[in-house]
Amino acid sequence: MNQIFIANPKGGCGKTTIAAQLAGYFANQGKSVLLVDHDTQRSSSDWLGSRPDKYSHIELVALAVDQPVVGSRAEMVVHDMPAAWDLDHVADIIHEGDCVLIPILSSPTDIKACLRFIMGLYRSGVMESSIKIGIVANRAKTKTRYFQVLLEFLNRVELPLISSLRDTQNYVRAMDKGLTIFDLPPGMVSIDTAQWQPIIDWLNATEH
Ligand SMILES: Nc1ncnc2c1ncn2[C@@H]1O[C@H](COP(=O)(O)OP(=O)(O)OP(=O)(O)O)[C@@H](O)[C@H]1O
Ligand SMILES: [Mg+2]
Repeated sequence: MNQIFIANPKGGCGKTTIAAQLAGYFANQGKSVLLVDHDTQRSSSDWLGSRPDKYSHIELVALAVDQPVVGSRAEMVVHDMPAAWDLDHVADIIHEGDCVLIPILSSPTDIKACLRFIMGLYRSGVMESSIKIGIVANRAKTKTRYFQVLLEFLNRVELPLISSLRDTQNYVRAMDKGLTIFDLPPGMVSIDTAQWQPIIDWLNATEH
């Protein structure tokens, strides 16, 4: 099983949205997918609960923030992490993973919160392990000054920006119906699926 953690203790940066898209993408590719809802708000459970039967199947399990997945046969395991957890409590389960994707918004408060998280990843030894860590700029407004600030920040902490996802109602509308952008008519979401391609390529790349 390939375990991907979608993590950033900063609330509202897009973890559940991104975890759901990834789960949907891999399920549409014919892979067996387990979505792990670690959030007591149960947002990804609610999302999956509203997924119509005719769309690709995704398994769900709700676990505590520090509880690992055991005995799953799923090929892809996508962990939707909650906001506001203490890395010391969850470093062990992240260590079991293959990749950590960190969604981040380009605002000063989000950048500061992310810096604390990244320092925590360094302290916990995750950075020196073979786990791949990548950043996704979410709701990105690439022409703004704060997007430049975000790029400079990522450069300083030496983390790769895998892709920038635009702010669009496509995610909001899809999520409302238990769907992902990968379930919508391709013509409606071509900009968004193109922005996802680098993330898929990065996750599929064999070298860690
Ligand atoms: N790229 C996007 N374009 C437009 N809206 C977005 C995008 N990404 C996320 N959103 C919206 O932003 C809000 C927060 O997203 P989401 O719930 O995925 O964040 P989260 O990090 O999981 O939040 P929490 O920390 O509470 O778990 C939601 O209303 C979601 O629909
Ligand atoms: Mg969430």
